[in-house]
Amino acid sequence: MLDPLAKIVQDSTRADPYTGAMRESTETIRTSYDAVAAAYVEHLSGELAAKPLDRHLLNRFAEEIGDRGVVADLGCGPGHVARYLHEQGAQMLGIDLSPEMIRWATDLNPGIDFRVGDFRSLDLADGSLAGVVAFYSVIHLDAEGRATAFKEFRRILDSRGALLLAFHIGAETIHRDELWGQAVSLDFRFLEPAEVTAALRKAGFTVAERTEREPYEGTEYPSRRCYVLARTAPEGQPAGD
Ligand SMILES: C[S@@+](CC[C@H](N)C(=O)[O-])C[C@H]1O[C@@H](n2cnc3c(N)ncnc32)[C@H](O)[C@@H]1O
Repeated sequence: MLDPLAKIVQDSTRADPYTGAMRESTETIRTSYDAVAAAYVEHLSGELAAKPLDRHLLNRFAEEIGDRGVVADLGCGPGHVARYLHEQGAQMLGIDLSPEMIRWATDLNPGIDFRVGDFRSLDLADGSLAGVVAFYSVIHLDAEGRATAFKEFRRILDSRGALLLAFHIGAETIHRDELWGQAVSLDFRFLEPAEVTAALRKAGFTVAERTEREPYEGTEYPSRRCYVLARTAPEGQPAGD
């Protein structure tokens, strides 16, 4: 049988728009997540068991997508969100900047296609996906980087596409030089929901739901969380500001 995912991969010759400082910081994110991949698996790959709201939102997302097409988990890390959606019946693809994360994701989650890639510039055809999930993966980007990512998410989604995004709520940026005993260099940007929803509208989405919750004590970093469900805006609808 033909790989159903193969048809959505373009033989892309699109230029990589990232140069200079952006490329350097992309490299820092990649090498940092390569360094912590094994510890990330140990500490976080089972986290959904203790996160009922996340499971509920993912269940509804899988239900909305049904058998309409492929869902990409962008910035998938070790692939536990992709695996959860796969278990709910979604046809999943996982993409991450870090080759080590992709190696773990592939080993831990047989039956799901995982690939190394940058979600700001993907080798996927326009309108080729039914859904995108991005849990805590746009949190290292500044506003310009997020705008680029959201445009790319919109480009690859079809006309009924849905996006589920998760991030930490706030205005601060926390820099870490060390995570689980490994040297890293990562800025974790907390985000204001109103700013994120405005950027999504500008990129061509309608925002359907915005859900906020308190941290689950003892199981995760103690930050408030936001989940945004957005859908492809109808053709011709003016972009929001
Ligand atoms: C905080 S982890 C989140 C992983 C997973 N989604 C989760 O919920 O645990 C952020 C992940 O996003 C990936 N990432 C960051 N920027 C990316 C980009 N531009 N393209 C693809 N992956 C990226 C990192 O390599 C890392 O694995």
